[in-house]
Order: sequence, then structure tokens, then C-alpha cells
Amino acid sequence: MGQFTRIAIDGPAAAGKSTIAKILAKKLNFTYMDTGAMYRVVTYYCMKHGINCQDTKACEAVVNDINIELRPDNTVFCNGEDVTRAIRTTEVSGNVSYIAAMKGIRLVLSAKQKEFAKTHNVVMDGRDIGTYVIPDAEVKIFMIASVECRAQRRYKENMEKNIPCSIDDIREDVKKRDYIDSHRDFAPLKKADDAIEVDTSPLTIDQVVETILGIINKKLGR
Ligand code: DC
Repeated sequence: MGQFTRIAIDGPAAAGKSTIAKILAKKLNFTYMDTGAMYRVVTYYCMKHGINCQDTKACEAVVNDINIELRPDNTVFCNGEDVTRAIRTTEVSGNVSYIAAMKGIRLVLSAKQKEFAKTHNVVMDGRDIGTYVIPDAEVKIFMIASVECRAQRRYKENMEKNIPCSIDDIREDVKKRDYIDSHRDFAPLKKADDAIEVDTSPLTIDQVVETILGIINKKLGR
């Protein structure tokens, strides 16, 4: 094991990765990195500038113009603008899988993620963390849950944050993103061979945290 401990959490849309990763990072005193937020910022930027999110050339051409900041209080900034809420809208969620399928964008964002993981104890969540960003992570978790369960959870979360949405739209978005994320050519959503799968459908947040902490402690020999 190197100087730093890296915990990779992957899984499909709305499986609860970020909720759990944030709690784990706090408990372990590690830094949390939400890689999905980075793809969302690029999507937000393209939409704001009238760029078609399915136009690979046009989107890849602007990726280096975007300064993404993930702050310690979990706020997210795009070229100095607070976009914490703006990146969670139904419109951004509906386009982000197209952006995340673009190799030129993935190479830029994953290089930043790889660099960060070299110098931090980190809990990183995404789709390709255990397979591509940190293939030698000390702990790899693959979180899954049924489509219905994920849609209900995301709906509740949006309602609590006053983000307008419908359960039918969310269910369709979850299915669509699962499909696009797992069928793209470069670094698709996939369980790493050495990842431990955790089905969160029947579990409360506390139970998921407890389960994963147990896995982490065992893996780290603590
Ligand atoms: O976790 P999320 O819903 O915020 O992720 C947004 C999108 O970004 C998701 O549809 C897939 C993509 N993504 C990715 O391709 N690779 C990552 N490491 C993280 C997210």
C-alpha cells in the first residue's frame, strides 16, 4: 500500500453513492470527491453557452475553458459561479450521459481525478473509479439498487431540495443514463473484478454505511 488510502465507490445513477461517500469521508477524515459533479459542470457550461450536448467536437473544444472547483463544503463552482444547485436540474441530468460518453472530456476530467488521488486519502465516487481512475484503489465498492428504489430516492431528495421533477421523468432518466453509461466505448460503467458489490435496496443509509465501513476495516486490516 502507498502513502495514501483510496476508496473507490462506483455504481449506477442514483444508487446513493454520494450520500454514502460523504458520510464515509467524514467518518474516516478523508476528502470526498464527487466525480459525477465534474461531468455535470461541463454539461451545465455547454448548455449555458448554447452548445449542443450531443455535438462531441463542440463540447470537447470547450472543456479546457472550464475551471471546476469542488469545495470542501461540497459546493461546486464553474468558472467562479456557484452551480451547486444548477447542476442537479432535470435538464442537466438528461444531458450529462452524452457529455460523459465523450472521450476527449473523460481524458481531461479523469486526469484531474487521477492526480488528486495521488496526494490525498480520498473517497471518490463515480462510474469508472475502480476500473479506470484508481485501478489500484485499496478498497473498491460497487453499489447497486433496483431502478424503482433509485427513482423513489432521487425523487424524495429533489423534493427536499425544492428541485421540481416528476417520478416518471426520474425513472426514465435513471434507465436512460444506466444504458448510456454502461454502453459507451471508453471507461463505461462496470463493476471492477475485485470490487465488492453492495445492494442498497433493502438497507437504510446507516446500514449501508455500517456495511461499507465493515468492508473497509477488513480490507485495511483494522
Ligand atoms: O453520479 P452522477 O449522477 O452525478 O453522475 C452524472 C453522470 O456522469 C452520470 O450519468 C455518469 C457520468 N459519470 C461518469 O461517466 N463517470 C464518472 N466517474 C462519474 C459520473
